[in-house]
Amino acid sequence: MEYSAGTIDLSPQSDDLGSPCLNRHRPLLQVTVKKLALFIQTLVFYDMKKTVTKTGKTAALTYWVVINCKTILIKDEDSGYNKNLFCIPKHYEEDIERVFIPHGLILDRTERLARDIMQDMGSHHIVALCVLKGGYKFFADLLDHIKALNQNGDKSVPVTVDFVKIKSYCNDSPTEKISIVGEELSALNGKNVLVVEDIIETGRTMKALLSKLKDYEPKMIKVVSLLIKMTNRSPGYRPDYIGFEIPDKFVVGYALDYNEYFRDLNHICILKEKAKEKYKI
Ligand code: IMP
Repeated sequence: MEYSAGTIDLSPQSDDLGSPCLNRHRPLLQVTVKKLALFIQTLVFYDMKKTVTKTGKTAALTYWVVINCKTILIKDEDSGYNKNLFCIPKHYEEDIERVFIPHGLILDRTERLARDIMQDMGSHHIVALCVLKGGYKFFADLLDHIKALNQNGDKSVPVTVDFVKIKSYCNDSPTEKISIVGEELSALNGKNVLVVEDIIETGRTMKALLSKLKDYEPKMIKVVSLLIKMTNRSPGYRPDYIGFEIPDKFVVGYALDYNEYFRDLNHICILKEKAKEKYKI
């Protein structure tokens, strides 16, 4: 089974034909170079984490920009947009502090993620696994884009879907126990699986899910997450594809919830503190 978490594109250029000897050894060479790049990326990440603890965030952010050229980085000081410039449902108007990522930007970024995923995985049947409930909007929009690529491209592959429901948060804090309520996932056996998640913070939830999925012996697993949080609580887990890298703030909307509320909000937003009190359980 292949577990890859690379965000660096090391694929050969189409005009790079190379020598016959090099071509024969190319697969081995590519795997080695990729592993080396991942190793260096991990080292840089841990170095960055030390920097966060020791000297504050500025140097760390520079590292993030350098190693994460394949994601949109939203920095700590980016506070989003005035909510009055957007349409917010009346029932949430008092609860929202700022619009953080507008819906249109989410869709545009998702379109590009779909293209990157199809370039990497588009030669075999894909099982797209939606992590409920927070992942359902991203999953639906991502699959629409993948369908469009299948419809209009020179080649196409079947995409089937499966669902798993995970609960690991209460109010705005992680719960001790992660509950995974899966359907029968034997359809994953021997397949190329794309796990579609809304947000990764420490990676604890995703690691628990990946360890469960291993039991079904898929051929390959790739993970796409719409958001990843920059937090020094994370030991460094990174998915294969990332939509946006965001500061350590609690966000809602576009199916991300606070105790089940705010899934019915199009934009990803920051909550007011008094809203956290209002919907607390
Ligand atoms: P992790 O296990 O620490 O990576 O946390 C990931 C899970 O926590 C996600 O699947 C979400 O359910 C939840 N979560 C983390 N941060 C947020 C947030 O800012 N808004 C909503 N849910 C969040």
